[in-house]
Amino acid sequence: MIRVNKEICIGCENCVYHCLQDNIEMNEGKAQMVNEKCIYCGHCIALCPVDAIEIDHYDIDEVDKYNPEKFEINEENFLNFMKFRRSIRSYKNREVEKEKIEKIIEAGRYSPTGGNRQHISYTIVKDKLPELREMAINKLYEISQDIKKGNDKGYNYNKSTLDRYYKAWEKMYEEFQEGEDRLFFKGDTLIIAKGDTRLKPTPQMELGIALSRMELMAYTLGLGTCYIGYFMTAFSKSKEIRDFLGIKDYEEVVSPLIIGYPDVKYIKTAPRNKVKVDWL
Ligand SMILES: Cc1cc2nc3c(=O)[nH]c(=O)nc-3n(C[C@H](O)[C@H](O)[C@H](O)COP(=O)(O)O)c2cc1C
Ligand code: SF4
Ligand code: SF4
Repeated sequence: MIRVNKEICIGCENCVYHCLQDNIEMNEGKAQMVNEKCIYCGHCIALCPVDAIEIDHYDIDEVDKYNPEKFEINEENFLNFMKFRRSIRSYKNREVEKEKIEKIIEAGRYSPTGGNRQHISYTIVKDKLPELREMAINKLYEISQDIKKGNDKGYNYNKSTLDRYYKAWEKMYEEFQEGEDRLFFKGDTLIIAKGDTRLKPTPQMELGIALSRMELMAYTLGLGTCYIGYFMTAFSKSKEIRDFLGIKDYEEVVSPLIIGYPDVKYIKTAPRNKVKVDWL
């Protein structure tokens, strides 16, 4: 429930102008909620100069007042920070602290969702990662042998990509027998973002937004990350893996993030193509 405390409201109309849903009206110089169309985006709360809006939905103590020292980031450093991030494929044998994982999840929690549905939840795989690694590598090996035999139906890749992948999965399996990990690179923790398709049938976009913020958050904490697309091939073909992770039928996932302390130190940014932009 969301309401305006009329004793406090000074009638500035800020909330009325900026409510996306036209959910607030003025009545005798005070704001009032229509309450049928509210998506609980919190914009009215974030704009009200006198804290006149009350909401039962959230923990209001989490609302933080704007303070430039706390909220501003220098644009050059921010851009450079994003340019310097790399996919990390070599990790130290060092545990990632729970507090750091919680901060990363917090970055995901505050990411935007269409219609403010907030339909994303997370599975953090840490203790069960060795078991998951083995299951996924075995599944990828099984898939590689299937493709090798010529059964290449049901994969969203062209022939040359499939050829490259099945050879990589075969090699991954062989190296795994010798103690190597070409799937999660011996990272410490896997973060799986799950979208509730009952609330949003196509949650992939929001899952990607959340993970990309979490990735950047991880770098601020001295950690490294890598998106693991190969895992999705194993996951999409294995009910056993889905059940092992406790992921429901109505939940959708995208490439998860492996995180850990990097065992590699990049000393420069990597080059990229010139950008192609159509300015209309
Ligand atoms: C994939 C996606 C699609 C969105 N589409 C629209 C849109 O069409 N129109 C709009 O006004 N807002 C759109 N939004 C913004 C959301 O309504 C907004 O993120 C949400 O209400 C939370 O508010 P916040 O972004 O200020 O935190 C979209 C957000 C996402 C992530
Ligand atoms: S929470 Fe968002 S949608 Fe609801 S009344 Fe406030 S501004 Fe409007
Ligand atoms: S922003 Fe606050 S003070 Fe201004 S009209 Fe809305 S509830 Fe009243």
